[in-house]
Amino acid sequence: MKSREIEKKFIQFFVSRKHLLIPQISLVPENDPTLLFTSAGMVALKSYFLGLEKPPHNRLVNVQRCLRTTDINKVGQNARTLSFFEMLGSWSIGDYFKEGAIKLAWQFLTTHLNFSPENLWVSYFAGDSDYPQVPADKESAKIWQEIGLDSDHIVGLGYQDNFWQSGEIGPCGPSTEVYFDRGESFGCKEKTCRPGCDCDRFLEIWNAGVFMQYNRTSQDQYQPLPFNSVDTGAGLERLAMVLQKKNSVFETDLFIPLTNQINKLASIGSGQEADKQQLINRIADHIRASVFLIADGVVPSNQEQGYILRRLIRRAVDAADRIGLSDLSQLVSVVVVNYQSAYSYLAGQEDKIKQILLTEEGGFRKAIRRGKKKIILMSEEKKTQGKPLSGQEVFYFTQTFGLPPELVKKEFSKQAIVLNKNIDQELLQAQKEHQQKSRSDQKFKGGLADNSDRVVAYHTATHLLHQALRTTLGDHVHQTGSNITSHRLRFDFIHPKALTKEEISKIEKIINEQIKANLPVTYREKTIEEAKKDGALAFFEDRYRQGKIRVYKIGDFSVEVCGGPHLKRTGLMGKFIISKEKSIGSGKRRIYGILEEDQ
Ligand code: SER
Repeated sequence: MKSREIEKKFIQFFVSRKHLLIPQISLVPENDPTLLFTSAGMVALKSYFLGLEKPPHNRLVNVQRCLRTTDINKVGQNARTLSFFEMLGSWSIGDYFKEGAIKLAWQFLTTHLNFSPENLWVSYFAGDSDYPQVPADKESAKIWQEIGLDSDHIVGLGYQDNFWQSGEIGPCGPSTEVYFDRGESFGCKEKTCRPGCDCDRFLEIWNAGVFMQYNRTSQDQYQPLPFNSVDTGAGLERLAMVLQKKNSVFETDLFIPLTNQINKLASIGSGQEADKQQLINRIADHIRASVFLIADGVVPSNQEQGYILRRLIRRAVDAADRIGLSDLSQLVSVVVVNYQSAYSYLAGQEDKIKQILLTEEGGFRKAIRRGKKKIILMSEEKKTQGKPLSGQEVFYFTQTFGLPPELVKKEFSKQAIVLNKNIDQELLQAQKEHQQKSRSDQKFKGGLADNSDRVVAYHTATHLLHQALRTTLGDHVHQTGSNITSHRLRFDFIHPKALTKEEISKIEKIINEQIKANLPVTYREKTIEEAKKDGALAFFEDRYRQGKIRVYKIGDFSVEVCGGPHLKRTGLMGKFIISKEKSIGSGKRRIYGILEEDQ
Protein backbone atom coordinates (compact mmCIF):
# COMPACT_ATOMS: atom_id res chain seq x y z
CA MET A 1 0.00 0.00 0.00
CA LYS A 2 1.48 3.35 -1.05
CA SER A 3 2.17 5.84 1.75
CA ARG A 4 -0.26 8.41 0.40
CA GLU A 5 -2.91 5.72 0.31
CA ILE A 6 -2.30 4.95 3.99
CA GLU A 7 -2.63 8.64 4.75
CA LYS A 8 -5.85 8.85 2.74
CA LYS A 9 -7.36 5.82 4.48
CA PHE A 10 -6.52 7.26 7.89
CA ILE A 11 -8.04 10.64 7.12
CA GLN A 12 -11.14 9.09 5.51
CA PHE A 13 -11.64 6.70 8.41
CA PHE A 14 -11.71 9.50 10.94
CA VAL A 15 -13.57 12.02 8.75
CA SER A 16 -16.33 9.47 8.22
CA ARG A 17 -16.52 9.17 12.01
CA LYS A 18 -17.21 12.88 12.39
CA HIS A 19 -13.64 14.16 12.74
CA LEU A 20 -12.85 17.51 11.14
CA LEU A 21 -9.73 17.61 8.92
CA ILE A 22 -7.51 20.47 10.08
CA PRO A 23 -4.50 21.95 8.22
CA GLN A 24 -0.85 21.37 9.06
CA ILE A 25 1.26 23.99 10.81
CA SER A 26 4.89 24.89 10.08
CA LEU A 27 7.80 22.88 11.50
CA VAL A 28 8.59 25.99 13.52
CA PRO A 29 5.69 26.53 15.91
CA GLU A 30 4.67 30.15 16.24
CA ASN A 31 4.98 31.76 19.63
CA ASP A 32 5.70 28.67 21.63
CA PRO A 33 9.03 29.28 23.34
CA THR A 34 8.85 25.90 25.07
CA LEU A 35 9.51 24.15 21.73
CA LEU A 36 12.00 24.63 18.92
CA PHE A 37 10.05 22.47 16.51
CA THR A 38 6.61 21.03 15.94
CA SER A 39 7.23 17.59 17.41
CA ALA A 40 3.65 16.23 17.22
CA GLY A 41 0.30 17.13 15.72
CA MET A 42 -0.98 18.13 19.17
CA VAL A 43 1.42 21.09 19.38
CA ALA A 44 -1.09 23.30 17.59
CA LEU A 45 -3.93 22.14 19.85
CA LYS A 46 -2.58 22.68 23.37
CA SER A 47 -4.91 25.54 24.19
CA TYR A 48 -7.92 23.39 23.23
CA PHE A 49 -6.92 20.71 25.73
CA LEU A 50 -6.46 23.35 28.41
CA GLY A 51 -9.93 24.72 27.71
CA LEU A 52 -8.49 28.14 26.86
CA GLU A 53 -9.83 28.17 23.34
CA LYS A 54 -12.78 26.52 21.72
CA PRO A 55 -11.78 24.07 18.95
CA PRO A 56 -13.50 24.29 15.55
CA HIS A 57 -14.96 20.85 16.32
CA ASN A 58 -14.69 18.33 19.17
CA ARG A 59 -13.19 15.62 16.91
CA LEU A 60 -10.19 16.48 14.75
CA VAL A 61 -7.82 14.69 12.38
CA ASN A 62 -4.79 15.65 10.28
CA VAL A 63 -1.35 14.76 9.02
CA GLN A 64 1.44 16.90 10.42
CA ARG A 65 5.09 17.24 9.43
CA CYS A 66 7.20 16.90 12.59
CA LEU A 67 10.82 17.10 13.65
CA ARG A 68 12.44 15.47 16.67
CA THR A 69 16.17 15.49 17.27
CA THR A 70 16.59 13.78 20.63
CA ASP A 71 17.68 10.56 18.93
CA ILE A 72 19.64 12.14 16.09
CA ASN A 73 22.64 9.87 16.74
CA LYS A 74 20.54 6.77 16.20
CA VAL A 75 19.27 7.85 12.78
CA GLY A 76 20.46 5.37 10.17
CA GLN A 77 21.58 2.88 12.79
CA ASN A 78 18.26 1.14 13.32
CA ALA A 79 15.23 0.39 11.17
CA ARG A 80 12.96 3.06 12.57
CA THR A 81 14.50 6.27 13.97
CA LEU A 82 14.03 9.46 11.96
CA SER A 83 14.43 13.18 12.61
CA PHE A 84 11.73 14.44 10.22
CA PHE A 85 8.55 12.39 9.92
CA GLU A 86 4.88 12.72 9.11
CA MET A 87 2.42 12.06 11.90
CA LEU A 88 -1.13 10.90 11.32
CA GLY A 89 -3.10 12.32 14.22
CA SER A 90 -6.65 12.18 15.54
CA TRP A 91 -8.16 13.93 18.53
CA SER A 92 -11.18 14.02 20.76
CA ILE A 93 -11.43 17.33 22.59
CA GLY A 94 -13.73 16.66 25.54
CA ASP A 95 -15.68 14.11 23.48
CA TYR A 96 -14.99 10.33 23.58
CA PHE A 97 -12.27 9.06 25.93
CA LYS A 98 -10.40 5.79 26.49
CA GLU A 99 -12.97 3.31 25.26
CA GLY A 100 -13.84 5.33 22.17
CA ALA A 101 -10.20 5.87 21.23
CA ILE A 102 -9.15 2.26 21.72
CA LYS A 103 -12.09 0.94 19.73
CA LEU A 104 -11.37 3.32 16.86
CA ALA A 105 -7.70 2.30 16.80
CA TRP A 106 -8.55 -1.39 16.84
CA GLN A 107 -11.13 -1.04 14.11
CA PHE A 108 -8.82 0.96 11.85
CA LEU A 109 -5.86 -1.37 12.29
CA THR A 110 -7.66 -4.68 11.99
CA THR A 111 -10.39 -3.99 9.48
CA HIS A 112 -9.05 -1.11 7.35
CA LEU A 113 -5.32 -1.83 7.33
CA ASN A 114 -5.92 -5.59 7.81
CA PHE A 115 -3.43 -6.16 10.60
CA SER A 116 -3.86 -9.55 12.12
CA PRO A 117 -4.38 -9.39 15.91
CA GLU A 118 -1.66 -11.91 16.68
CA ASN A 119 0.94 -9.47 15.37
CA LEU A 120 -0.29 -6.62 17.52
CA TRP A 121 0.81 -5.80 21.07
CA VAL A 122 -0.07 -2.85 23.23
CA SER A 123 1.42 -1.04 26.18
CA TYR A 124 -0.37 0.96 28.87
CA PHE A 125 0.69 3.07 31.83
CA ALA A 126 1.13 0.72 34.79
CA GLY A 127 2.01 3.47 37.27
CA ASP A 128 5.50 4.52 38.34
CA SER A 129 6.87 4.79 41.87
CA ASP A 130 8.84 7.89 40.80
CA TYR A 131 5.56 9.61 39.90
CA PRO A 132 3.11 8.74 42.67
CA GLN A 133 0.92 11.72 41.70
CA VAL A 134 -0.33 9.94 38.57
CA PRO A 135 -2.21 6.66 39.07
CA ALA A 136 -1.89 3.59 36.81
CA ASP A 137 -4.25 3.41 33.84
CA LYS A 138 -5.83 0.00 34.46
CA GLU A 139 -8.89 0.95 32.47
CA SER A 140 -7.06 0.93 29.14
CA ALA A 141 -5.63 -2.53 29.82
CA LYS A 142 -9.15 -3.78 30.54
CA ILE A 143 -10.61 -2.25 27.39
CA TRP A 144 -7.94 -3.87 25.19
CA GLN A 145 -8.77 -7.20 26.78
CA GLU A 146 -12.48 -6.72 26.26
CA ILE A 147 -12.11 -6.04 22.57
CA GLY A 148 -10.29 -9.31 22.14
CA LEU A 149 -6.56 -8.70 22.37
CA ASP A 150 -4.67 -11.60 23.92
CA SER A 151 -3.80 -10.59 27.50
CA ASP A 152 -0.18 -11.71 26.98
CA HIS A 153 0.04 -8.95 24.43
CA ILE A 154 -0.96 -6.21 26.88
CA VAL A 155 2.14 -4.87 28.60
CA GLY A 156 2.26 -2.39 31.48
CA LEU A 157 5.13 0.11 31.31
CA GLY A 158 6.30 3.09 33.38
CA TYR A 159 6.32 6.85 33.03
CA GLN A 160 9.17 7.09 30.52
CA ASP A 161 7.39 4.83 28.01
CA ASN A 162 3.72 5.44 28.65
CA PHE A 163 3.15 8.93 29.92
CA TRP A 164 3.16 11.63 27.27
CA GLN A 165 3.68 15.35 27.35
CA SER A 166 5.20 17.91 25.06
CA GLY A 167 7.56 20.18 26.96
CA GLU A 168 7.97 20.49 30.71
CA ILE A 169 4.58 22.01 31.34
CA GLY A 170 1.20 21.71 29.68
CA PRO A 171 -1.51 19.13 28.97
CA CYS A 172 -0.41 15.51 29.43
CA GLY A 173 -1.56 12.05 30.43
CA PRO A 174 -1.02 8.29 30.32
CA SER A 175 -0.80 6.74 26.89
CA THR A 176 -1.52 3.42 25.28
CA GLU A 177 0.67 2.44 22.35
CA VAL A 178 0.31 -0.20 19.66
CA TYR A 179 3.31 -2.26 18.55
CA PHE A 180 3.75 -4.51 15.54
CA ASP A 181 5.68 -7.70 16.26
CA ARG A 182 8.10 -8.15 13.38
CA GLY A 183 9.13 -11.56 14.66
CA GLU A 184 11.85 -12.98 16.85
CA SER A 185 14.47 -12.88 14.12
CA PHE A 186 14.47 -9.07 14.27
CA GLY A 187 14.92 -8.97 18.02
CA CYS A 188 17.67 -8.99 20.60
CA LYS A 189 16.52 -12.47 21.71
CA GLU A 190 16.78 -11.46 25.36
CA LYS A 191 14.19 -13.02 27.67
CA THR A 192 13.04 -9.56 28.68
CA CYS A 193 12.39 -8.45 25.08
CA ARG A 194 8.90 -6.96 24.74
CA PRO A 195 7.31 -3.68 23.64
CA GLY A 196 9.50 -0.85 24.89
CA CYS A 197 12.73 -2.83 24.21
CA ASP A 198 15.24 -0.86 22.17
CA CYS A 199 15.80 -3.62 19.59
CA ASP A 200 14.05 -3.81 16.22
CA ARG A 201 11.51 -6.56 17.03
CA PHE A 202 8.56 -4.59 18.43
CA LEU A 203 7.88 -1.55 16.30
CA GLU A 204 5.68 1.12 17.82
CA ILE A 205 3.22 2.01 15.08
CA TRP A 206 0.63 4.11 16.85
CA ASN A 207 0.35 6.09 20.01
CA ALA A 208 -3.32 5.17 20.02
CA GLY A 209 -4.19 7.47 22.80
CA VAL A 210 -2.57 9.96 25.07
CA PHE A 211 -5.38 10.37 27.57
CA MET A 212 -5.09 14.04 28.30
CA GLN A 213 -6.27 14.30 31.88
CA TYR A 214 -3.73 16.59 33.51
CA ASN A 215 -2.12 19.96 33.14
CA ARG A 216 1.42 19.70 34.36
CA THR A 217 2.09 23.08 35.91
CA SER A 218 5.50 22.32 37.39
CA GLN A 219 7.90 19.45 37.91
CA ASP A 220 5.67 17.56 40.32
CA GLN A 221 2.24 19.13 39.96
CA TYR A 222 -0.43 17.52 37.84
CA GLN A 223 -3.71 19.37 37.96
CA PRO A 224 -6.86 17.86 36.46
CA LEU A 225 -7.89 19.43 33.18
CA PRO A 226 -11.41 20.91 32.90
CA PHE A 227 -12.34 17.95 30.65
CA ASN A 228 -10.69 14.78 29.29
CA SER A 229 -9.33 14.59 25.75
CA VAL A 230 -7.55 12.10 23.50
CA ASP A 231 -4.45 12.76 21.38
CA THR A 232 -3.26 10.06 18.99
CA GLY A 233 -0.34 9.91 16.59
CA ALA A 234 1.01 7.35 14.13
CA GLY A 235 4.24 7.73 12.18
CA LEU A 236 3.44 7.42 8.48
CA GLU A 237 6.90 6.04 7.70
CA ARG A 238 6.53 3.21 10.23
CA LEU A 239 3.08 2.22 9.04
CA ALA A 240 4.43 2.24 5.48
CA MET A 241 7.37 0.06 6.51
CA VAL A 242 5.04 -2.61 7.89
CA LEU A 243 2.37 -2.39 5.21
CA GLN A 244 4.92 -2.37 2.41
CA LYS A 245 6.67 -5.33 4.09
CA LYS A 246 10.03 -3.59 4.25
CA ASN A 247 12.89 -4.05 6.65
CA SER A 248 13.32 -0.40 7.48
CA VAL A 249 11.61 2.95 7.02
CA PHE A 250 14.36 3.81 4.52
CA GLU A 251 13.12 1.10 2.15
CA THR A 252 9.61 2.55 1.86
CA ASP A 253 8.32 4.62 -1.02
CA LEU A 254 8.93 7.73 1.11
CA PHE A 255 12.69 7.16 0.85
CA ILE A 256 13.51 4.81 -2.02
CA PRO A 257 13.94 7.46 -4.77
CA LEU A 258 16.27 9.38 -2.45
CA THR A 259 18.33 6.44 -1.17
CA ASN A 260 18.66 5.14 -4.76
CA GLN A 261 19.93 8.51 -5.91
CA ILE A 262 22.45 8.68 -3.07
CA ASN A 263 23.64 5.19 -3.92
CA LYS A 264 23.98 6.15 -7.57
CA LEU A 265 26.01 9.27 -6.82
CA ALA A 266 28.24 7.62 -4.20
CA SER A 267 31.60 6.77 -5.65
CA ILE A 268 33.11 4.60 -2.95
CA GLY A 269 32.02 1.66 -0.87
CA SER A 270 32.57 1.86 2.82
CA GLY A 271 34.33 -1.05 4.51
CA GLN A 272 31.28 -3.16 4.91
CA GLU A 273 28.08 -2.84 2.94
CA ALA A 274 26.01 -2.45 6.14
CA ASP A 275 28.05 0.60 7.13
CA LYS A 276 27.51 2.12 3.74
CA GLN A 277 23.76 1.60 4.00
CA GLN A 278 23.73 3.29 7.40
CA LEU A 279 25.52 6.29 5.97
CA ILE A 280 23.12 6.44 3.02
CA ASN A 281 20.16 6.29 5.39
CA ARG A 282 21.58 9.02 7.56
CA ILE A 283 22.13 11.29 4.56
CA ALA A 284 18.61 10.56 3.30
CA ASP A 285 17.01 11.42 6.64
CA HIS A 286 19.05 14.56 7.22
CA ILE A 287 18.61 15.90 3.70
CA ARG A 288 14.87 15.31 3.70
CA ALA A 289 14.63 17.07 7.08
CA SER A 290 16.80 19.95 5.81
CA VAL A 291 14.64 20.42 2.71
CA PHE A 292 11.51 20.72 4.85
CA LEU A 293 13.17 22.96 7.42
CA ILE A 294 14.51 25.38 4.83
CA ALA A 295 11.12 25.42 3.10
CA ASP A 296 9.62 26.45 6.46
CA GLY A 297 12.01 29.39 6.64
CA VAL A 298 14.89 28.03 8.76
CA VAL A 299 18.42 28.98 7.69
CA PRO A 300 21.63 27.48 9.07
CA SER A 301 23.04 29.47 12.01
CA ASN A 302 24.59 28.98 15.42
CA GLN A 303 21.45 29.12 17.45
CA GLU A 304 18.12 27.50 18.03
CA GLN A 305 16.41 26.08 14.91
CA GLY A 306 19.25 27.29 12.66
CA TYR A 307 21.76 25.39 14.75
CA ILE A 308 19.83 22.15 14.43
CA LEU A 309 19.61 22.61 10.67
CA ARG A 310 23.37 23.29 10.55
CA ARG A 311 23.99 20.13 12.55
CA LEU A 312 21.83 18.05 10.23
CA ILE A 313 23.60 19.37 7.14
CA ARG A 314 27.07 18.91 8.64
CA ARG A 315 26.29 15.37 9.74
CA ALA A 316 25.06 14.68 6.21
CA VAL A 317 28.23 16.14 4.65
CA ASP A 318 30.35 14.04 6.97
CA ALA A 319 28.49 10.86 5.97
CA ALA A 320 28.58 11.90 2.30
CA ASP A 321 32.35 12.30 2.42
CA ARG A 322 32.72 8.77 3.64
CA ILE A 323 30.93 7.34 0.62
CA GLY A 324 32.45 9.72 -1.90
CA LEU A 325 29.43 11.92 -2.50
CA SER A 326 29.95 15.63 -2.88
CA ASP A 327 27.34 18.32 -3.45
CA LEU A 328 24.28 17.42 -1.43
CA SER A 329 22.21 20.00 -3.26
CA GLN A 330 21.91 17.42 -6.06
CA LEU A 331 19.53 15.51 -3.81
CA VAL A 332 16.98 18.28 -3.34
CA SER A 333 15.02 17.68 -6.55
CA VAL A 334 14.41 14.02 -5.68
CA VAL A 335 12.83 15.01 -2.37
CA VAL A 336 10.75 17.74 -4.00
CA VAL A 337 9.45 15.41 -6.71
CA ASN A 338 8.68 12.60 -4.27
CA TYR A 339 6.74 14.94 -2.00
CA GLN A 340 5.10 17.25 -4.47
CA SER A 341 1.69 15.60 -4.38
CA ALA A 342 1.40 16.19 -0.64
CA TYR A 343 3.58 19.31 -0.22
CA SER A 344 3.19 21.31 -3.41
CA TYR A 345 4.82 24.41 -1.84
CA LEU A 346 8.24 22.71 -1.97
CA ALA A 347 8.60 23.10 -5.74
CA GLY A 348 8.57 26.90 -5.63
CA GLN A 349 11.38 26.83 -3.05
CA GLU A 350 13.64 24.34 -4.78
CA ASP A 351 16.25 26.86 -5.95
CA LYS A 352 16.45 28.56 -2.57
CA ILE A 353 16.87 25.21 -0.80
CA LYS A 354 19.64 24.13 -3.19
CA GLN A 355 21.44 27.45 -2.77
CA ILE A 356 21.35 27.31 1.03
CA LEU A 357 22.62 23.73 1.05
CA LEU A 358 25.38 24.56 -1.39
CA THR A 359 26.58 27.52 0.69
CA GLU A 360 26.45 25.63 3.96
CA GLU A 361 28.24 22.62 2.51
CA GLY A 362 30.90 24.87 0.97
CA GLY A 363 31.44 26.70 4.26
CA PHE A 364 31.75 23.45 6.12
CA ARG A 365 34.23 22.00 3.66
CA LYS A 366 36.37 25.13 3.98
CA ALA A 367 36.31 24.69 7.75
CA ILE A 368 37.35 21.06 7.30
CA ARG A 369 40.32 22.11 5.17
CA ARG A 370 41.43 24.68 7.74
CA GLY A 371 40.94 22.17 10.54
CA LYS A 372 43.01 19.53 8.74
CA LYS A 373 45.90 21.96 8.31
CA LYS A 374 45.82 22.71 12.00
CA ILE A 375 45.72 18.97 12.76
CA ILE A 376 48.91 18.45 10.74
CA LEU A 377 50.66 21.26 12.61
CA MET A 378 49.52 20.00 15.98
CA SER A 379 50.53 16.45 15.12
CA GLU A 380 54.11 17.60 14.62
CA GLU A 381 54.13 19.09 18.11
CA LYS A 382 52.58 15.99 19.59
CA LYS A 383 55.14 13.75 17.95
CA THR A 384 57.98 15.68 19.51
CA GLN A 385 56.24 15.66 22.89
CA GLY A 386 55.25 12.00 22.49
CA LYS A 387 51.73 12.77 23.77
CA PRO A 388 48.49 11.03 22.74
CA LEU A 389 45.44 12.92 21.54
CA SER A 390 43.03 13.86 24.33
CA GLY A 391 39.24 14.27 24.32
CA GLN A 392 39.66 17.94 25.22
CA GLU A 393 41.71 18.43 22.06
CA VAL A 394 39.06 16.68 19.96
CA PHE A 395 36.50 19.01 21.51
CA TYR A 396 38.61 22.03 20.54
CA PHE A 397 38.40 20.99 16.89
CA THR A 398 34.66 20.38 17.05
CA GLN A 399 34.16 23.84 18.50
CA THR A 400 36.67 25.89 16.54
CA PHE A 401 36.32 24.29 13.13
CA GLY A 402 32.96 22.56 13.48
CA LEU A 403 34.56 19.19 12.69
CA PRO A 404 32.78 15.98 13.72
CA PRO A 405 34.75 14.10 16.45
CA GLU A 406 35.15 10.98 14.30
CA LEU A 407 36.84 13.01 11.59
CA VAL A 408 39.23 14.65 14.07
CA LYS A 409 40.25 11.28 15.45
CA LYS A 410 40.68 9.83 11.98
CA GLU A 411 42.88 12.72 10.80
CA PHE A 412 45.14 12.52 13.86
CA SER A 413 45.44 8.75 13.43
CA LYS A 414 46.51 9.34 9.82
CA GLN A 415 49.34 11.44 11.24
CA ALA A 416 50.37 8.47 13.41
CA ILE A 417 49.16 10.10 16.63
CA VAL A 418 47.90 7.67 19.27
CA LEU A 419 44.47 8.29 20.75
CA ASN A 420 44.22 8.56 24.50
CA LYS A 421 42.57 5.52 26.12
CA ASN A 422 39.84 7.62 27.70
CA ILE A 423 39.37 9.86 24.71
CA ASP A 424 35.60 9.34 24.45
CA GLN A 425 34.92 9.94 28.14
CA GLU A 426 37.13 13.04 28.04
CA LEU A 427 35.25 14.32 25.03
CA LEU A 428 31.92 13.75 26.75
CA GLN A 429 33.16 15.56 29.83
CA ALA A 430 34.37 18.53 27.77
CA GLN A 431 30.99 18.67 25.99
CA LYS A 432 29.13 18.62 29.30
CA GLU A 433 31.26 21.39 30.79
CA HIS A 434 30.73 23.48 27.70
CA GLN A 435 26.97 22.96 27.78
CA GLN A 436 26.79 24.04 31.39
CA LYS A 437 28.84 27.12 30.69
CA SER A 438 26.81 28.16 27.68
CA ARG A 439 23.58 27.57 29.58
CA SER A 440 24.73 29.99 32.25
CA ASP A 441 25.87 32.50 29.60
CA GLN A 442 22.57 32.11 27.78
CA LYS A 443 20.61 32.59 30.97
CA PHE A 444 22.10 36.03 31.53
CA LYS A 445 21.51 37.10 27.97
CA GLY A 446 17.84 36.29 28.33
CA GLY A 447 16.55 37.00 24.80
CA LEU A 448 17.43 40.67 24.45
CA ALA A 449 18.24 42.12 21.05
CA ASP A 450 20.88 44.48 22.44
CA ASN A 451 21.84 46.03 25.73
CA SER A 452 21.08 49.66 25.14
CA ASP A 453 19.37 51.52 27.99
CA ARG A 454 16.05 51.51 26.16
CA VAL A 455 16.13 47.77 25.68
CA VAL A 456 16.82 47.32 29.38
CA ALA A 457 13.90 49.62 30.22
CA TYR A 458 11.59 47.64 27.94
CA HIS A 459 12.76 44.46 29.57
CA THR A 460 11.74 45.73 32.99
CA ALA A 461 8.46 47.00 31.52
CA THR A 462 7.81 43.45 30.24
CA HIS A 463 7.88 42.14 33.81
CA LEU A 464 5.44 44.86 34.88
CA LEU A 465 3.17 44.01 31.95
CA HIS A 466 3.24 40.29 32.70
CA GLN A 467 2.15 40.85 36.30
CA ALA A 468 -0.39 43.55 35.40
CA LEU A 469 -1.99 41.15 32.89
CA ARG A 470 -2.29 38.46 35.54
CA THR A 471 -3.70 40.91 38.08
CA THR A 472 -6.28 42.15 35.59
CA LEU A 473 -7.18 39.02 33.61
CA GLY A 474 -6.35 36.15 35.97
CA ASP A 475 -3.61 33.64 36.71
CA HIS A 476 -4.20 31.62 33.54
CA VAL A 477 -2.26 34.34 31.73
CA HIS A 478 1.29 33.41 31.06
CA GLN A 479 4.00 34.44 28.72
CA THR A 480 4.53 32.39 25.58
CA GLY A 481 6.95 34.72 23.86
CA SER A 482 8.64 38.08 24.07
CA ASN A 483 10.62 40.27 21.73
CA ILE A 484 12.21 43.59 22.60
CA THR A 485 13.80 46.31 20.50
CA SER A 486 14.91 49.76 21.60
CA HIS A 487 11.58 51.14 20.30
CA ARG A 488 8.96 48.78 21.65
CA LEU A 489 8.18 45.57 23.45
CA ARG A 490 6.16 42.69 22.08
CA PHE A 491 4.59 40.23 24.47
CA ASP A 492 2.69 37.02 23.67
CA PHE A 493 0.54 35.30 26.22
CA ILE A 494 -2.26 32.82 26.75
CA HIS A 495 -5.72 34.36 27.01
CA PRO A 496 -8.85 33.17 25.23
CA LYS A 497 -10.36 36.47 24.10
CA ALA A 498 -9.65 40.00 22.98
CA LEU A 499 -8.95 42.53 25.70
CA THR A 500 -11.64 45.16 26.24
CA LYS A 501 -10.82 48.90 26.24
CA GLU A 502 -11.42 48.93 29.98
CA GLU A 503 -9.01 46.06 30.55
CA ILE A 504 -6.34 47.77 28.47
CA SER A 505 -6.73 51.03 30.42
CA LYS A 506 -6.59 49.15 33.70
CA ILE A 507 -3.40 47.33 32.71
CA GLU A 508 -1.76 50.60 31.63
CA LYS A 509 -2.87 52.25 34.86
CA ILE A 510 -1.42 49.48 37.03
CA ILE A 511 1.90 49.59 35.19
CA ASN A 512 2.16 53.38 35.36
CA GLU A 513 1.42 53.30 39.07
CA GLN A 514 4.39 50.97 39.56
CA ILE A 515 6.54 53.27 37.46
CA LYS A 516 5.49 56.34 39.50
CA ALA A 517 6.16 54.47 42.75
CA ASN A 518 9.77 54.18 41.56
CA LEU A 519 10.06 50.62 42.86
CA PRO A 520 13.50 49.08 43.31
CA VAL A 521 14.40 46.20 40.99
CA THR A 522 16.50 43.58 42.74
CA TYR A 523 17.56 40.01 42.13
CA ARG A 524 18.76 37.02 44.07
CA GLU A 525 20.32 33.83 42.78
CA LYS A 526 18.35 30.71 43.67
CA THR A 527 17.73 27.18 42.58
CA ILE A 528 14.59 26.68 40.52
CA GLU A 529 12.94 24.90 43.48
CA GLU A 530 13.63 27.83 45.80
CA ALA A 531 12.31 30.21 43.16
CA LYS A 532 9.13 28.20 42.81
CA LYS A 533 8.60 28.13 46.56
CA ASP A 534 8.77 31.91 46.47
CA GLY A 535 6.03 31.92 43.84
CA ALA A 536 8.25 33.34 41.08
CA LEU A 537 6.81 33.26 37.58
CA ALA A 538 8.95 30.87 35.59
CA PHE A 539 7.50 29.73 32.34
CA PHE A 540 10.75 28.86 30.64
CA GLU A 541 11.79 26.25 33.11
CA ASP A 542 13.84 23.96 30.97
CA ARG A 543 16.03 26.78 29.74
CA TYR A 544 16.98 27.51 33.30
CA ARG A 545 17.03 24.08 34.80
CA GLN A 546 20.76 23.73 35.44
CA GLY A 547 22.40 25.40 38.44
CA LYS A 548 21.35 28.71 39.95
CA ILE A 549 18.96 31.11 38.37
CA ARG A 550 18.15 34.74 38.96
CA VAL A 551 14.87 35.74 40.45
CA TYR A 552 14.03 39.39 39.81
CA LYS A 553 11.73 41.28 42.15
CA ILE A 554 10.15 44.60 41.34
CA GLY A 555 9.16 46.02 44.73
CA ASP A 556 6.50 43.65 45.99
CA PHE A 557 4.69 43.84 42.67
CA SER A 558 6.40 41.19 40.55
CA VAL A 559 8.65 38.17 41.09
CA GLU A 560 9.97 36.47 37.98
CA VAL A 561 12.75 34.13 36.97
CA CYS A 562 14.88 35.90 34.38
CA GLY A 563 18.45 36.45 33.26
CA GLY A 564 18.22 40.26 33.30
CA PRO A 565 19.55 42.87 32.90
CA HIS A 566 17.04 45.33 34.33
CA LEU A 567 16.75 48.94 35.39
CA LYS A 568 17.69 49.69 38.99
CA ARG A 569 14.34 51.40 39.62
CA THR A 570 11.06 51.54 37.72
CA GLY A 571 10.93 55.36 37.80
CA LEU A 572 13.57 55.47 35.09
CA MET A 573 11.45 54.14 32.25
CA GLY A 574 8.86 56.78 31.29
CA LYS A 575 5.13 56.28 30.72
CA PHE A 576 3.89 52.93 29.43
CA ILE A 577 1.29 52.70 26.67
CA ILE A 578 -0.23 49.62 25.01
CA SER A 579 -0.04 50.47 21.32
CA LYS A 580 -1.70 47.35 19.95
CA GLU A 581 -3.41 44.17 21.08
CA LYS A 582 -4.34 41.31 18.77
CA SER A 583 -4.94 37.57 18.42
CA ILE A 584 -2.15 35.32 17.20
CA GLY A 585 -4.35 32.22 17.08
CA SER A 586 -4.88 29.19 19.36
CA GLY A 587 -5.95 31.17 22.42
CA LYS A 588 -2.92 33.40 22.26
CA ARG A 589 -2.78 37.20 22.25
CA ARG A 590 -0.02 39.65 21.40
CA ILE A 591 0.54 43.07 22.93
CA TYR A 592 2.83 45.78 21.62
CA GLY A 593 3.85 48.37 24.19
CA ILE A 594 5.84 51.59 24.07
CA LEU A 595 7.51 53.79 26.65
CA GLU A 596 7.13 57.55 26.33
CA GLU A 597 10.35 59.04 27.62
CA ASP A 598 9.15 62.56 28.32
CA GLN A 599 7.10 61.83 31.40
N1 SER B 1 1.41 13.37 20.92
C1 SER B 1 1.53 11.95 20.98
C2 SER B 1 2.85 11.46 20.41
O1 SER B 1 3.57 12.21 19.82
C3 SER B 1 0.41 11.36 20.19
O2 SER B 1 0.39 11.94 18.96
O3 SER B 1 3.17 10.32 20.55
